[in-house]
Amino acid sequence: TGLFTYDPGFLSTASCTSNITYIDGDKGELLYRGYPIEELAVNCDFMDISYLILNGELPDPKQKVEFDTLVSKHTMVNEQMHFFLRGFRRDAHPMAVLTGLVGALSAFYHDSTDITNPHHRHVSAIRLIAKMPTLVAMAYKYSQGQPYIYPQNNLSYTGNFLRMMFATPCEEYVVNPVVERALDRIFILHADHEQNASTSTVRLCGSSGTNPFAAIASGVACLWGPAHGGANEACLQMLEELQAKGGLSKVGEFMEQVKDKNSGVRLMGFGHRVYKNYDPRAKLMQQTCKEVLAALGLENDPLFKLAMEVERIALEDPYFVERKLYPNVDFYSGIVQRAIGVPTALFTAIFALARTVGWIAQWNEMISDPEYKIGRPRQLYQGSVSRSVPKRK
Ligand code: CMC
Repeated sequence: TGLFTYDPGFLSTASCTSNITYIDGDKGELLYRGYPIEELAVNCDFMDISYLILNGELPDPKQKVEFDTLVSKHTMVNEQMHFFLRGFRRDAHPMAVLTGLVGALSAFYHDSTDITNPHHRHVSAIRLIAKMPTLVAMAYKYSQGQPYIYPQNNLSYTGNFLRMMFATPCEEYVVNPVVERALDRIFILHADHEQNASTSTVRLCGSSGTNPFAAIASGVACLWGPAHGGANEACLQMLEELQAKGGLSKVGEFMEQVKDKNSGVRLMGFGHRVYKNYDPRAKLMQQTCKEVLAALGLENDPLFKLAMEVERIALEDPYFVERKLYPNVDFYSGIVQRAIGVPTALFTAIFALARTVGWIAQWNEMISDPEYKIGRPRQLYQGSVSRSVPKRK
């Protein structure tokens, strides 16, 4: 035994060094590889961001084409995966399905177990980024009882995902550029976020030397929780319930409930462990939300109005002000996804799709570090002292 620092929830423990993402919670600043998220969101697409997060630099035009081509070569999944998917109930939660499907990829790529080989690590990263949209869309199609739509590689990464989700074999599907841009923005804003719970899970799981598909499956499982990626689904459900109970006229009452610690109700999509000023992703997401609703003729969407009112009250209320609680990225992303036709149960799976590049880049950074060790926290034992087993008969 020894004396260890007790830090539940890792409030003051840095678990690693990293060069990927920087957050200044007091300033509300988020940088991917040094570039502010606000500039990346307007100047880049998700493939640029994926390249940047993986490689440290933005791609030049030639590198971009090569990267797009490489990713698109890996978009299909082995046909055997269809049989695996069929083992699930059709009403299974997409995150349950996705946790299983991502883990199951391990069974198909034996080269991925050689994590000491940088080439194999890179191929695994590309496979994961490329196949995630296919898996999420398959999970959705299966839940609907519709045939799977195979990837079409002359489309953009995001356009291809939309087609796999919403096309049917009976009619031609044309990707709506407004919808494509909005979803791409969601992907960009969720791509990485330093040592959050799911990324730390991927690092801890990967630190045992397990293969990257297994490590990312652990990240998917962690993301599912309502305090983390599951907040977007929970936030939309919260707004829908509030709308059903009377909408704008009931916001005041609802906010009182949120402030009452005994109610067990939290304002979903609000608060963040690191951002104590504002979440820059939430600002960008709110802007996207306005643009998409306007472009789709949904300006009067009652849930959006409700969200704006909840936000307005919270930003003035001492409970939220004193605790530095601001809207986070999940507050508006659900409204955007709902507007573009994504069912609520799939929101967190879309978050997982986007975060995959961050997870795999963080995993690769850890494995590339010659000094990395298996993660093995200690504990402060509070159980019984050593004692003898009493006679059993
Ligand atoms: N609604 C009402 N009160 C809240 C909320 C909320 N959403 N969030 C925090 N508080 C209160 C909390 O009760 C506590 O009050 P007190 O000091 O009086 O005990 C204080 O604010 C500090 O909260 P905490 O739980 O100690 O803070 P944390 O850093 O451990 O938790 C959080 C951060 C994000 C888990 C939390 O704010 C939360 O549960 N938010 C709602 C879920 C959510 O939106 N999650 C998405 C996070 S962003 C995307 C992602 O990471 O996936």
